[in-house]
Amino acid sequence: MQDMPASKAYRLLEAGPIVLVTTSYKGKLNVMTMGFHMVVQHSPPLLGCIIGPWDHSYKALRASGECVIAIPTVDLARKVVDIGNCSGDRIDKFETFKLTPKPAQAVAAPLIAECLANIECRVADDAMVDKYNLFILEAVRIWTDPDRKERRTLHHRGDGTFAVDGRTIDLRERMVLWKQFQD
Ligand SMILES: Cc1cc2nc3c(=O)[nH]c(=O)nc-3n(C[C@H](O)[C@H](O)[C@H](O)COP(=O)(O)O)c2cc1C
Repeated sequence: MQDMPASKAYRLLEAGPIVLVTTSYKGKLNVMTMGFHMVVQHSPPLLGCIIGPWDHSYKALRASGECVIAIPTVDLARKVVDIGNCSGDRIDKFETFKLTPKPAQAVAAPLIAECLANIECRVADDAMVDKYNLFILEAVRIWTDPDRKERRTLHHRGDGTFAVDGRTIDLRERMVLWKQFQD
């Protein structure tokens, strides 16, 4: 085994698909790219997200308490990276990146029509935001696009390279203790 810096642990523990986070703040829609997120709890469904004060989205999320987590697929890869390399402080990212905002049902932040799925979220707990930039969000509604042909998501390796979803292995019959999570 070769030694590697402990600070690189995040590169080994994949955090799920790279996502886009939309917000609505003072009537302005915005979107950012986010790789640092995790599932926290099944019910009520809680998600942990790291959104830092360097992001315009941080201000929007703190003020509005709402966002949408949109899941892009591999065809949007370049846009996903570019969206995470500029700020909504200065540009309209929906316009610049030709994304279509659609009204959500429970929150003011928009869905993204071009994404595979959209999760409407409300901030459930902000106790760890000051220390870790960690927002605990509750998923309140989910929308998916069943007609979308491209369904492969992107997984950030932490350095600007991405793994693309591959083969699915179905081991549901072995999940004898966890049947409730299979439907
Ligand atoms: C691949 C990738 C992953 C990123 N992950 C995060 C993240 O998990 N949390 C975060 O605060 N910023 C993350 N960023 C940076 C934000 O997307 C970036 O600061 C963005 O410009 C913020 O946009 P805003 O100022 O319009 O909110 C990531 C950027 C890229 C390219």
